[in-house]
Amino acid sequence: MSGVQMAKNKFLELLNREHQMALNKMKQLDTALTGFQFEGKSSVGRNLKQVHSVLQFCDGTLMKHMKLEEQIIFPFLASHVPKLDSVLRILCSQHEDFRKSLEDLRFFVNLYSSEASKSDSSRTIHKLRELGAYLIYLLRHHMQVENESVYQVIDRELRSGERKALEKRRREYVE
Ligand SMILES: [Fe+2]
Ligand SMILES: [Fe+2]
Repeated sequence: MSGVQMAKNKFLELLNREHQMALNKMKQLDTALTGFQFEGKSSVGRNLKQVHSVLQFCDGTLMKHMKLEEQIIFPFLASHVPKLDSVLRILCSQHEDFRKSLEDLRFFVNLYSSEASKSDSSRTIHKLRELGAYLIYLLRHHMQVENESVYQVIDRELRSGERKALEKRRREYVE
């Protein structure tokens, strides 16, 4: 178990739980996209439903999580812990990359839905698997870096008053 998972801070626990949910959703995405390639046509509907549930999670919980980081957590840390500046920039550009790749995935999911019953869709499936693998890799790597840098700093390096101030900003933001 990592230090972050053991964090006593409730607010970090929440962020960490969302990371865990996202990683589970990425597994679900991987299984469904593999199913497109290796399971018969009778499974297409079920696998599409799984992919849509992942997209819904990304549009909702995950986008809220990223916005909270971009608008509250990262700016707060940038002003209190200057050494994090470059990693925060990288994390923000990974958020952008994730959003863009998610839109690409959505495009090919819609294309696949429209052609699945008619034509040979092997090229679309190949593209979907490629995009899926990239998204999964990106998110895993991103969350690992956050856990090991940003979240650790919140847990171990911020003074208790700073942590409280950050928690207050988060509450005001989400409410
Ligand atoms: Fe993030
Ligand atoms: Fe995060």
